[in-house]
Amino acid sequence: MHRNSSVGILGTGSYVPEKILTNKELETMVDTSDEWIVSRTGICERRISSEQEASSDLALYAAEKALEAAGIRADQLDLIIVATVTPDTSFPSTANIIQDRLGAKKAASFDLAAACSGFLYGIATASQFIENGLYRYALVIGVECLSKIVDWTDRNTCVLFGDGAGAAVLGPVEEGFGFLSFDLGSDGAGGDLLKLPAGGSRLPASEQTIADRLHYVYMSGGDVFKFAVRVMGSSAEAALEKAGMKKEEIDFLVPHQANLRIIDAAVKRLGLSIDKVVVNLDRYGNMSAASIPVALDEVVRQGRIKQGDRLVLVGFGGGLTWGACVLRWSMKEKEQLNHG
Ligand code: ACO
Repeated sequence: MHRNSSVGILGTGSYVPEKILTNKELETMVDTSDEWIVSRTGICERRISSEQEASSDLALYAAEKALEAAGIRADQLDLIIVATVTPDTSFPSTANIIQDRLGAKKAASFDLAAACSGFLYGIATASQFIENGLYRYALVIGVECLSKIVDWTDRNTCVLFGDGAGAAVLGPVEEGFGFLSFDLGSDGAGGDLLKLPAGGSRLPASEQTIADRLHYVYMSGGDVFKFAVRVMGSSAEAALEKAGMKKEEIDFLVPHQANLRIIDAAVKRLGLSIDKVVVNLDRYGNMSAASIPVALDEVVRQGRIKQGDRLVLVGFGGGLTWGACVLRWSMKEKEQLNHG
């Protein structure tokens, strides 16, 4: 096996459903206001998947774009990881469905559940396989159809979330580029702050769980807010330290898109100017595992990221989980040595 000292992102892609749900429309559904949602969260609108669309449908579009950007065929993929809390079904995994629909004949595939931190957990996992030489190309997708598990009568949660998918193809890059560090963490003691109570082996679906509305997202917003403000800053700092990099050297921060006030707090702590921060929650809300890869794909396609730029990706989510990585940008694949 040939070890790869540097692993990075060779191409990105994203997809959001066509249907837009504005704050004004939400005013007709629950007791809320555009003013409240914008001032408390920064969200103006979000995308909602159709009745026929499931996570794999969104993920497939994002994956195809990422493969095209990377110049990699699906049958060259060795691994597919899908980070999601809204899989099409518990099993088969959404990654298995994507493997088949892409025609990724030789790829191993599995889902990974780390809520909004899922994409970061996914790229950290996939990059290890490439670094140790077991695999050369991996596809990591963050996808959610949160609209299907949100209680549309609960104003505390339904205004916050949206649907979408983001993908990245990982592979070997030139020495000194790619992922410079990862910081991952979890605190299961906070699991009850953000959860989908029923539908698993603890509380299988029953008439009672449906009557009690336990198949919808439950969130203790204030507690999650405090946790998020703390870990977004600390995890980004930990990743910077592991990479031997100073805050001043950050060219772009791509944070999880839950709430503008949470992002602002992290930006303040890192002392960044706002033009270095990628924000899209105004248009998409919180897409959980899809937020970071969609934001990354947008900024890449806008041509704002240059070769050698240093990016910090940072997020937090249910679990509780968090993660960050430092990435020195290069979409140039390292010269192939012995691969066809
Ligand atoms: N419209 C109007 N009023 C509302 C709404 C709404 N949509 N939602 C809540 N409220 C009310 C509440 O009922 C409450 O009223 P009360 O005080 O009379 O009980 C009040 O607003 C709550 O006010 P605050 O606590 O001041 O609201 P806050 O500024 O904390 O904002 C929010 C609430 C937006 C939920 C915030 O706490 C937050 O963003 N938390 C983090 C959420 C998050 O990041 N989730 C991540 C999910 S990640 C994943 O893994 C899926």
